[in-house]
Amino acid sequence: MRRLRKNQLTRNLVAETDLSVGNLILPYFVVEGRNVKKEIKSMPSVYHLSIDNVLKDLEEAYGIKAVLLFGVANTKDAIGSQAYNKNGTVQKAIKAIKKKYKDLIIMTDVCLCGYTSHGHCGILKSANGLSFMVDGKKKKRSHKLSAINYQPEINNDKTLKVLCKIALSHAEAGADFVAPSAMMDRQVKVIRETLDNNGFKDVGILAYSAKYASNFYEPFREALDSAPQFGDRKSYQMDYRNSDEALREIKQDIDEGADIVMVKPALAYLDIIYRAKQKFNIPIAAYNVSGEYAMISQWLMGNNKDKKNHKPSAINHQLVLEVLTSIKRAGADLIITYWAKEAAKWLKDSR
Ligand code: PBG
Repeated sequence: MRRLRKNQLTRNLVAETDLSVGNLILPYFVVEGRNVKKEIKSMPSVYHLSIDNVLKDLEEAYGIKAVLLFGVANTKDAIGSQAYNKNGTVQKAIKAIKKKYKDLIIMTDVCLCGYTSHGHCGILKSANGLSFMVDGKKKKRSHKLSAINYQPEINNDKTLKVLCKIALSHAEAGADFVAPSAMMDRQVKVIRETLDNNGFKDVGILAYSAKYASNFYEPFREALDSAPQFGDRKSYQMDYRNSDEALREIKQDIDEGADIVMVKPALAYLDIIYRAKQKFNIPIAAYNVSGEYAMISQWLMGNNKDKKNHKPSAINHQLVLEVLTSIKRAGADLIITYWAKEAAKWLKDSR
């Protein structure tokens, strides 16, 4: 067996999995303002960026072909109305990026959690004494809620209406793909219909199909200030004990018109990616989420304490490439990763 491992040239000749820049999707957390660049504490080298700085950052993106945008909302309310503001942060960012980078694919997260005062991905049915949270009036989020264990009911169909408004506002601004991530039933179907009926047949849907109620999203929720203020997301995101259910979710999204389906998170869910790839012949994306990124980046940063620059050392580039390649080997065609830029650079340098 060792003949084919003899040297790099031979290993490259027979390598089964080829990670390439074209497979990577780079997420951005976009904020209002100018010249803002603020590191997210739990995610080393990941920043809140204002639109001007996103444009600047993309100048050094080493051939990245696709970005996924998240907006960080200044004002939140019970129905997440800032999410579909035509002049909202994401909408403005889409336009600005499209203007400067014609060859970049712009994808946008379509969800409510970053925009609702209660932090849930949908509209609440009632909030049991917390009615001020659901009255639709604009209020800054209250962090002093005592009812932390209260499990709210989410109104699926009311939420769908808002998701459609958000998706449409992104399409109008110029998004190439919208990525519904609220895990409401029929979200892909109604968004597809809305896009079609409004002249956006060419806008694609990247569906967060098998999205688990995962503990690996914690750093992201710090980035978006989107942690649920009470209860959890288990009534809409998937139970991590299940995998058949993931295949049912994916099948439904394909039937409803998804162009690309996603498994999320990636690393603790490689079996799901593998099963999805075996069963369906549609592009599969995997989201290498914030907790997975933080786990490794903080470790690498710890290894480099003496260095001013917190970037992982050259030797440890291999660790990140190993992680990303394993996700691809499991069956993911596309990978959403906070390492996209670094990985793109390392892949370029190694050619
Ligand atoms: C919005 C959304 C979440 C992530 C992507 N879109 C968080 C959540 O569901 O709570 C997580 C991404 C990450 O952890 O990197 N619903």
